[in-house]
Amino acid sequence: MADRALMEDSLAAVADSGAELRHGLFERFFAAYPDRRKTFLNVEAASIRMTDETLEMMLGLAGQEQWVWPLVTELVFTHRSYGRLPMEEYDAFIDLSIDELARHAADHWNSGIDAAWRRQAARLKTMIVQARAEWEALMPPGYVEEMS
Ligand code: HEM
Repeated sequence: MADRALMEDSLAAVADSGAELRHGLFERFFAAYPDRRKTFLNVEAASIRMTDETLEMMLGLAGQEQWVWPLVTELVFTHRSYGRLPMEEYDAFIDLSIDELARHAADHWNSGIDAAWRRQAARLKTMIVQARAEWEALMPPGYVEEMS
C-alpha cells in the first residue's frame, strides 16, 4: 500500500484520542526540553495547531501536495519569534509526534505504517533545514543568528 493510505489508516484509528495524543506529545517534548515550556503562552491552543500541522504536513508530503513547501517556509519564519530553535528540537518534535501516534494507534500499528510515517518525517526534516537555509540566505546579518 502507498504511504499515504497507510498513514490515513493509522490516523483514523486515533480519531477519538486526539487530545490524549497531543497532551502526551507535549509532555514528552517538555520532558526532553524543559526550558521550552516557558516559551509557550498558551500550550493548549498551540498544541492543537502544532500537532495537527505536523501530522498534516507529513500526510501532505506522502500525497505529493504542493502546499507543504510554502507552509514549511512560513513555519520556519514565524518560529523565529519563539527564540532560537535548534534543528534537534524540530527533529525531536516530529519523531515524538509519530511515537505518540504509534502508542495511541497501537492495535492498528505495524512496521509498514511505521516506515511510511518515518519516510515522510525524514522528508519534512530535510525541508525544514532547506527552508532555514533559504531564509538565512535572504535575510540581513542580524536575523541570521536567531535561525541557526
Ligand atoms: C514541525 C514542527 C512544528 C510545527 C508544525 C509547529 C506549528 C506551530 C503553529 C501552527 C503554531 C501557532 C499556534 C497558535 O497560534 O495557536 C506554533 C506555535 C508555537 N510553536 Fe510550533 N511548530 C513546530 C515545532 C515547534 C518546535 C520544535 C518548537 C520548540 C519549542 C515550537 C515552539 C512553538 C511556540 C513557543 C509557539 C507559540 C505558542 C504560544 O504562543 O503559546 N514549535 N507552532
